[in-house]
Amino acid sequence: MAVNLRGRNLLSIKDLSGDEITAVLDKAAELKADRRRVFDEAPLAGKTLAMIFLKPSLRTRVSFETGMTLLGGHAIYLAPTDIKLGQRETTEDIALVLSRYVDLIMARVFGHDTVADLGRHATVPVINGLSDLEHPCQILADLLTIRERKNRLAGLKAVFIGDGNNVAHSLMLGAARVGMHMTVVTPHGCEPQEQVLQESRALGAATGARIEVVNDPATGAREADVLYTDVWASMGQEAEAEAKKRAFSGFRIDADLMKHAKSDAIIMHCLPAHYDEEIDYAASRTPNSAIFDQAENRMHAQNGLMVLLVG
Ligand code: CP
Ligand code: NVA
Repeated sequence: MAVNLRGRNLLSIKDLSGDEITAVLDKAAELKADRRRVFDEAPLAGKTLAMIFLKPSLRTRVSFETGMTLLGGHAIYLAPTDIKLGQRETTEDIALVLSRYVDLIMARVFGHDTVADLGRHATVPVINGLSDLEHPCQILADLLTIRERKNRLAGLKAVFIGDGNNVAHSLMLGAARVGMHMTVVTPHGCEPQEQVLQESRALGAATGARIEVVNDPATGAREADVLYTDVWASMGQEAEAEAKKRAFSGFRIDADLMKHAKSDAIIMHCLPAHYDEEIDYAASRTPNSAIFDQAENRMHAQNGLMVLLVG
């Protein structure tokens, strides 16, 4: 099916249909296969990306910036202290001004409303580089990684164990879009948002993806093709970190949990990791682990996305 993403925003992974996700992954794989040719052809020559960061980052910043360099374009890093979004200037004015200079905006924010506001007011595409609600770029990289290892997405069973957070939300919606079954395993009270669950189930009804939330790790991990985790306390939740450590004890990827999954289950983590908490260091270094492929694929997935948005 012909897909045209030119000029679109990516605020939520659900903004992309299943065919559009496949198109991004195909373009990412094509760009990944021959970096030399991509650099020579420079598909984003003359294009500039503004990167707004209200939170720290390693992968998102470096993958977008190196990605733009590889594609022949340019990226500008805007730290929280540079533009003081919402303090020195309104989100609306920042979106309107940046749109006069740059071809693309990527933003990492706290409340999802901030990136939604940027998307509403900018006249160039806006990409969500993580909000408290979602992390769609991460999930594009994750789907690329799973597809590389398993040669398919539809019909697999992915299990996310930990906090029902932004990564869990985007994984549920993305899995639903591509027909991948998804089980989220959390302690009571830490489940994903009900609205995201309902949206995921509605999208999954169209693709055959079963989306469920359970509270028992062993039950949830049964026959998993993918075991995924993330930090228990996300950026902005530092004050809750100690209490969460108690609530999440046992909700981690380790040898015990892996016994319940398929023997060739992929181990995934968006990183940064806390090896004494949500994932065991040894588990993260087994041949089943794809965590550094995920990190690398951030760049390829985003490159595919950016070329389809503005190339
Ligand atoms: N996974 C991820 O988004 O990493 P950073 O927070 O380092 O960008
Ligand atoms: N859930 C984590 C993801 C970090 C990439 C956070 O929001 O901090």
